Parts: sequence; structure tokens; C-alpha cells
Amino acid sequence: DPTQSVLGFLRERLGRTGTKEGCAEGDCGACTVVVGELAGDDVALHAVNACLQFVPMLDGKALFTVEDLRQPDGALHPAQQAMVECHGSQCGFCTPGFVMSLWALYLEHQSLQTRPTDGEIRSALTGNLCRCTGYRPILDAGARMFDLAPASFDRAALCRQLRSIQRDRSLVHTYNGRVLFAPRSMAELTALRASHPQATILAGGTDIGLWVTKQLRELGEIIYIGCVDELRAIRESDGALNIGAGATLTEAYRALAQHYPEVREMGERFGSPPIRNAGTMGGNVANGSPIGDSMPGLIALGATVTLRSREGSRMLPMEDLYIGYMKNVMAADEILEAITVPLPKPSLRFRSYKLSKRYDSDISAVCAAFAIDFAGDRIERCRVAFGGLAAIPKRAPATESALSGKAWT
Ligand code: FES
Ligand code: FES
Repeated sequence: DPTQSVLGFLRERLGRTGTKEGCAEGDCGACTVVVGELAGDDVALHAVNACLQFVPMLDGKALFTVEDLRQPDGALHPAQQAMVECHGSQCGFCTPGFVMSLWALYLEHQSLQTRPTDGEIRSALTGNLCRCTGYRPILDAGARMFDLAPASFDRAALCRQLRSIQRDRSLVHTYNGRVLFAPRSMAELTALRASHPQATILAGGTDIGLWVTKQLRELGEIIYIGCVDELRAIRESDGALNIGAGATLTEAYRALAQHYPEVREMGERFGSPPIRNAGTMGGNVANGSPIGDSMPGLIALGATVTLRSREGSRMLPMEDLYIGYMKNVMAADEILEAITVPLPKPSLRFRSYKLSKRYDSDISAVCAAFAIDFAGDRIERCRVAFGGLAAIPKRAPATESALSGKAWT
């Protein structure tokens, strides 16, 4: 079935029961697996939640589960051995998920030839919940694994294997009358959108996965956009950063933070690493939840969105995309192509804030962003945007005009 979850497939079809199901909604990390995909001459490996991925989304990729960590001599991987030595497991239900998040961190730092800081270890584990061990021993294991004899990982061999399974034509996957299209170019995508205006557009699955696991919805036709390379590109041109709608939140926030380091905290507090590795900034924007965390900052920075159909494209300010609760101005044959953010100028100061019950991995109660353009010590103009205060992400025009021209005191 096109909406068969990777988690269900692993456990029920393949008998790979090392991967656990806790919440089935991306909140607990018990189902964490690592996905590998080609990235130029190398492979990119990142942790994702198996409960939110549909099996066809893995086409052309590699999937690693906790069972794959066994070393050639049968020994535990350092990520596992460190959990043993630091007493990082009691009931063990969360353990495979923690181990997979640690393994992803291990691989990342192994290829960078660095060790993670304590903060980086904490951040890597924000998507994993443990109810009985307590986090200190697990965090200790995250540091300890780098003290143990290193385990090698053959990236070149994986690269070759991945190349050998790339398809030269787009995937159309049908099962019992249900169909998932995975176009590979914008032209193909816009043509499909025009001929299937009712289809569900699927990107990272971090929201749509829940429509299936929690709401038990039948999605009908699905157009999966993850194979359209043009949509995943992030580039700078004409004084702006252009973020393809299919870029993951991890990629998008990393690029944005190079120009606006102030967004780093927002990027780190958006969901968890497995969510950010799968979910896309374009999905967050197109979905249009009033508490979507990317929009207030993007709106305050003056971001625009590009909508594309077979007929052409149009750009509009991001705030004009939304017209009501989860409603937007996109025509039935349009898709969100890109988000364009002006690069900073020296007179601009930007801040964004997220208030939530937990610091990490929580939805906003309120999110606020302020971009203030100064002329000396006066506010020349400002843009203020909020999430969680109205039915849509919204600017605060009365506040903006009240502040404009005032001294900054
Ligand atoms: Fe909880 Fe997947 S089962 S995140
Ligand atoms: Fe029991 Fe973590 S060891 S939930």
C-alpha cells in the first residue's frame, strides 16, 4: 500500500522488530531509523521516524535499522557498547531509537573527524523520550561512544549500491487501485498536478503521516515530490536566498542560519532532528498551520513564495498566501515551488521567539518574530509577525506602524 508505514513494514512484514512503536506520530523516537541517499559523490545519512515514512518514499534509498549495527565480528557497535557501559537502558523500549540517533551522530562526526559537544549530543537526542532510565546515562553514552575502538562504515560501497538502484524513469506505484506518483522534474510535477488536482502532495510526511496513523484517512492519489531535485535546491541569487520547497527543515535552517544566525535557536527547537530531517520548510509553509514555526520568522524577514503551475509562476509575499484557517490562495493546479528570503543588510536587526511548554520538540503556544530596520537610533520600519495568535500566521500592522519612526529606547 502506498501509505504503508516503514515502521509497520519493518515489524509486520520483515519481522525486524528491533524498531519499536511508541506514539506513531513522530514524538517519541522509539521508531528511529537511519536513511541513506546519494548526495553528489557522497551519501547523506540521517535519522528519521519510521512511523511517519511511507515505504515508497524509500525508493532509491538505503534503510538502516538497529539490526544493522551488528559488527562483522558480531560485536556491538560503539553506540550500543557505550549504552551498556554507561547503563543507558532499563526496560529497553526506547533503546533502539536512542541507539539509532546516536549512530547517526556517530556517522556524522566520524566523517567530519570531530567529536560532538555536549550541546550537540543533547540536540541529537531531543526527539527520543525515555521513561525509566533518565537521560544522564544516555548522554554519557553519547560522549563515551567516541572513546571506544572506532567502527568503520564503508560510504563508498553504499554509494555504489545506491547508484545501482537509481531508476531512470519516474516511479508510479499502484496497489489496489491506489496510486503514488513520484515525478522527477518540475515539468512532470506541474503536469501531474494539473491532471490530478485532488491528489495529496506529499513531501516529508511529518504531517501527512499522522493523517494515516492517527486519523486513519485514505489519502487517494498521492504525488510525492521528494524525487524532484530542482525542488530540493537552495541557492543564493540577486541578494536573496532561494529555498526550494522540497528542502528539508534541517537543510533550510542551516542555509538560513548562515545569513541570519538568529534563527539557529528556532531551527533547533523545530520538532526534533528526525522530524527536521524529513519535514520540509515548504511543507510547513504550504500546510499553513497557524502554529507552524517557520512562518513568523520568514514573514518578518519579508520572504516571498513562488507558486508554479503548468501555465507559469507567480510570486507573492508569504503573508498573502494565507486567507483563513489552513486555507491559502493556491489554485488547484499550483504547487509551492520556493521560498525566497532577502539577505540581511547591516541596518536590520532580527529576533524570533518561541514560547512552548517544553523547550524542545514541542508546538508553539506563541511564536513571534521582529525584523527592525534602523536609521541611526530610530526605527525606520519594522515587520512584526506572530504565530499562534490568529487563525493564520499574521503580521501585526498596527504595532508596525506605531513603532515606525520611534526612537529605539
Ligand atoms: Fe514515536 Fe515513531 S513511534 S516517533
Ligand atoms: Fe525504558 Fe527508556 S529504558 S523507556
